[in-house]
Amino acid sequence: MCILQHDWIMADLKNLTLSSGAAASRYSGDEQVQFIPSGSHQVTIRSPPPSLHLENLNNVVHGGSQNNLHCSCNGTTSNGAAATVCTGGVLVRKVPNHSGASPGQGNKRPAVSLTHLPKRPPVDVEFKNLAYSVSEGRKRGYKTILKCVNGKFRSGELTAIMGPSGAGKSTLMNVLAGYKTSHLSGSVLINGKDRNLRRFRKMSCYIMQDDRLLPHLTVYEAMTVSANLKLGKDISATAKKVVIEEIIETLGLREASNTQTQSLSGGQRKRLSIALELVNNPPVMFFDEPTSGLDSSACFQCLSLLKSLSRGGRTIICTIHQPSARLFEMFDHLYLLAEGQCIYQGNVGGLVPFLSSMGLDCPSYHNPADYVMEVACGEHGECVHKLVMAVNNGKCNNYQHYQAGIAAAQAVSNDIAKESPQEQTKPEGTALIPNGVAKAGTTMINMPVSCTTSLLDSAESIEQKVGFPTSGLLQFWILLKRTFLSQIRDMTLTRVRLISHIIVGFLIGAIYYDIGNEASEVMSNAGCVFFTVMFLMFTAMMPTILTFPTEMSVFVREHLNYWYSVKSFYLARTLADLPFQMVYSIAYVVIVYFITSQPLEVERFLMYLNICVLTSLVAQSIGLLIGAAMSVESGVFIGPVMSVPIILFSGFFVNFNAVPKYLKFLSYVSYVRYGFEGAMISVYGYNRAKLKCSEYYCHFKSPTKFLEQMAMENAVYWIDVVALLGFLLVLRVVVYFVLKLKLRSLR
Ligand SMILES: Nc1ncnc2c1ncn2[C@@H]1O[C@H](COP(=O)(O)OP(=O)(O)OP(=O)(O)O)[C@@H](O)[C@H]1O
Ligand SMILES: [Mg+2]
Repeated sequence: MCILQHDWIMADLKNLTLSSGAAASRYSGDEQVQFIPSGSHQVTIRSPPPSLHLENLNNVVHGGSQNNLHCSCNGTTSNGAAATVCTGGVLVRKVPNHSGASPGQGNKRPAVSLTHLPKRPPVDVEFKNLAYSVSEGRKRGYKTILKCVNGKFRSGELTAIMGPSGAGKSTLMNVLAGYKTSHLSGSVLINGKDRNLRRFRKMSCYIMQDDRLLPHLTVYEAMTVSANLKLGKDISATAKKVVIEEIIETLGLREASNTQTQSLSGGQRKRLSIALELVNNPPVMFFDEPTSGLDSSACFQCLSLLKSLSRGGRTIICTIHQPSARLFEMFDHLYLLAEGQCIYQGNVGGLVPFLSSMGLDCPSYHNPADYVMEVACGEHGECVHKLVMAVNNGKCNNYQHYQAGIAAAQAVSNDIAKESPQEQTKPEGTALIPNGVAKAGTTMINMPVSCTTSLLDSAESIEQKVGFPTSGLLQFWILLKRTFLSQIRDMTLTRVRLISHIIVGFLIGAIYYDIGNEASEVMSNAGCVFFTVMFLMFTAMMPTILTFPTEMSVFVREHLNYWYSVKSFYLARTLADLPFQMVYSIAYVVIVYFITSQPLEVERFLMYLNICVLTSLVAQSIGLLIGAAMSVESGVFIGPVMSVPIILFSGFFVNFNAVPKYLKFLSYVSYVRYGFEGAMISVYGYNRAKLKCSEYYCHFKSPTKFLEQMAMENAVYWIDVVALLGFLLVLRVVVYFVLKLKLRSLR
């Protein structure tokens, strides 16, 4: 593993330069510019409000918009081309339209300095003759979604994959990200070499359209987990904190850093999803519709961020539906798909001339993005085939010069990528801002880079490079703590469940009050025992069926983005649940056992408790299995339906001896039977003394006689325990393989 030393600058805004041509005004977070109400022109800004960060980036990246800085006076301050205007209590910093860092607009500075991020080698993603099909069932055969597409997405560029709904945008992205590998032909090349899937997945990340986040973690906690998992233990906690702080600051999440993710706004959720993946600075980032669900301002912020990331030398690829003209212009590279085929690839500026050359004239003042979508949808005649042919013949390459941005973008990425080793090993106390100027007084932290150029070399030995950033044990520990925290915060999972166990416990206690030692009430007592087993079974199984699919979706995202292994996740999930489930079961059993006057013997009580806890854990495993294998909708139906035969053959409704021979095997696979039998033996077995009879005649005065009646006279408690343990073990192992299968099926 190569170690790169890189520069750290605590606050990116300190380095933010608003520049325009020769005149540039540098904003420093430490600087104080005094603001004097009587029309003077000095302005004081001590620390930038978090909300400003992206706006500031926006202006630098894109130019052409104004920033509002709140202040308390009127006045204007001007600094060359970049002026600060303050009117009516609002300070407005004017940034001329031509002052952006947009390529070709004369600004040579990188748009944003995400200073903590290690430098990344440029990674170009190229695909040749890519065809992808899906099976539509045995009779209908295969449906081709991508039809032999070619293209190249370069580092330092913000690439948009556009096209009508169903054109294959997400599919192309999934294929390129390595999420879809079956029924795929053609090749994906990384920097000109065949893609090694495992290594590529390690150095890329995929931010999905739906933000899959654990609802009960705060932004800061989620970031901490991400940093701990993705940066490994070689980096100190302080260094990780700096990384987290800076990303939070840069993405404008400071105000929300202590907010649980379930309470975040759509834009904040999206930014958090990006922030979580930014922690280890992957050189290739895929975004599936990052702007969907966001308002125009949030869309702009989001794309500005992506653009600034691309300027940091990353390859940013995103799908987008119908961008406004303003957003459309922000992209460096366009890849247009229609019916699974490419109808244009190249610069944004070249699109309109290319379409014109094909006889498709985009009307003046019409958003080219809208127009090309109309073309792709066939609103201007059947021209998709014509465009596909033109692209295949290389005609769109003639229009690349319409945008001069690529060269500038490339220059930025190359600058970063080619930074000399001497610069990267500057002594502590100096740091490099991305344009290579040393800045004194900032700290520099050695950071082993988990993804280096060597990752790109597919001929290298896999063993050394394919591992996760952290050891399995550490992953397990981090995930265990996170799952525990999530569960504790989840009201429904913890408090409501505990309260319901206590309330139902008292209710059952009241119904079956004091019947445990009563010979005339043995049947009712058997009902009480059976209900206990049933209650624990359902309360353990159903919440798991409901909650596990959500956790699964987060797990899929994180695992596919190479955060941790299936093993670590599953072990942590399994163990984190145990204490909760045990506490609920114990609370219920203790209440019911004593109110219903079951035998007051420690041994019997512990036997009873043990069998009840085991039954609930087996039921929970079934919940995990159903939750892992199917959706919530199917699970809430399948769970109870599957339980019906299990309950039927438990030995309470139908005596074991009365079950027809050919159905007897069902009794053996009914885990409730072992639970019920074990609980009955704990209460009535092992030569319990005769019960008291408060009526004239009690048929079941002898507990043994009652067990005979229930066909449990030969039952052995430990066999029931071993059977339940066996169920528990087998089910948990099966769930693990179902998780693995599920991951494979997603490909
Ligand atoms: N598993 C599948 N089985 C059958 N058809 C599929 C499957 N997956 C995708 N498709 C089809 O492939 C086509 C492309 O899907 P994809 O999700 O890539 O579209 P998209 O361009 O991302 O659309 P949108 O903009 O609506 O997200 C669609 O027609 C879709 O119905
Ligand atoms: Mg899609």
